[in-house]
Amino acid sequence: MSRDQRLPAQIDTEHPSPARVYDYVLGGKDNYAADREAAGRVLELEPHARDSAVENRRFLARVVKHLAEQGIEQFLDLGSGLPTMDNVHRVAQRHVPDARVVYVDFDPMVLAHARALVNPDEGVTYVHSDIRDVAKVLEGARGLLDLSKPVALLAIAVLHFVPDEDDPAGLVAAYARQLACGSRVAISCASTEDVSPELIARIRSVYDNAPSPLYLRPRDRIRSLFGNLELLEPGLVHVTDWPVPSGTPRLPLTMLGGVAMIP
Ligand SMILES: C[S@@+](CC[C@H](N)C(=O)[O-])C[C@H]1O[C@@H](n2cnc3c(N)ncnc32)[C@H](O)[C@@H]1O
Repeated sequence: MSRDQRLPAQIDTEHPSPARVYDYVLGGKDNYAADREAAGRVLELEPHARDSAVENRRFLARVVKHLAEQGIEQFLDLGSGLPTMDNVHRVAQRHVPDARVVYVDFDPMVLAHARALVNPDEGVTYVHSDIRDVAKVLEGARGLLDLSKPVALLAIAVLHFVPDEDDPAGLVAAYARQLACGSRVAISCASTEDVSPELIARIRSVYDNAPSPLYLRPRDRIRSLFGNLELLEPGLVHVTDWPVPSGTPRLPLTMLGGVAMIP
């Protein structure tokens, strides 16, 4: 595990945090000058970055709706981020009123919000942990989820903050091994597809001082995060095209996403 694994003890307003930068890009108010400055640099480099974030969020909502409609009642949301539009429990419970959702994040600002928002009696709880600590996350999740029944493991826009040296594919596999047959694994990640190496380097440099650097990956590396799991139709696609092509023009900073089934 890398040095980044330490849990930040308190809110660091001096450096950009991925959770708060994302919040700002999505139009939220839970961010500081360092986050707005970082977001501004990304948007200056690529003005469509905001569309990519919004489309990723819509992908998440479609995945949760789709899986809830297929009878999945339990969700483990890794790197859940700050509360924003259509949080996972709201989408899930709209379709399955008894759906249970465990949010996991390591950002102290997310923890502060979670304290106010989550209520196990309403089927929602929060585990404050680095997602790389699989044992801790699953121990916390077991308080609400029955892991002998199918769970949707959501790793949406989070694995691009896990460096290769921490084996993100091995991490997904470690979770998958603990989940029941019929569980699903949903992943979206920032991709290098159609992005120039120069732009990749400049966008990465914005996160140099963040708690986790940013790792955009090529398509085959994102596919490999699912390991041997079989992807459900339509496979690994631009998030706008899941589960069906939307006709949305290709975004310059593209996110790829897909959902696999644990046999
Ligand atoms: C871009 S946001 C994505 C939020 C949400 N999943 C979505 O797609 O809308 C990434 C989130 O992952 C969290 N994160 C990044 N690395 C993490 C790690 N190793 N452990 C826990 N959370 C992490 C960040 O704090 C942030 O809240």
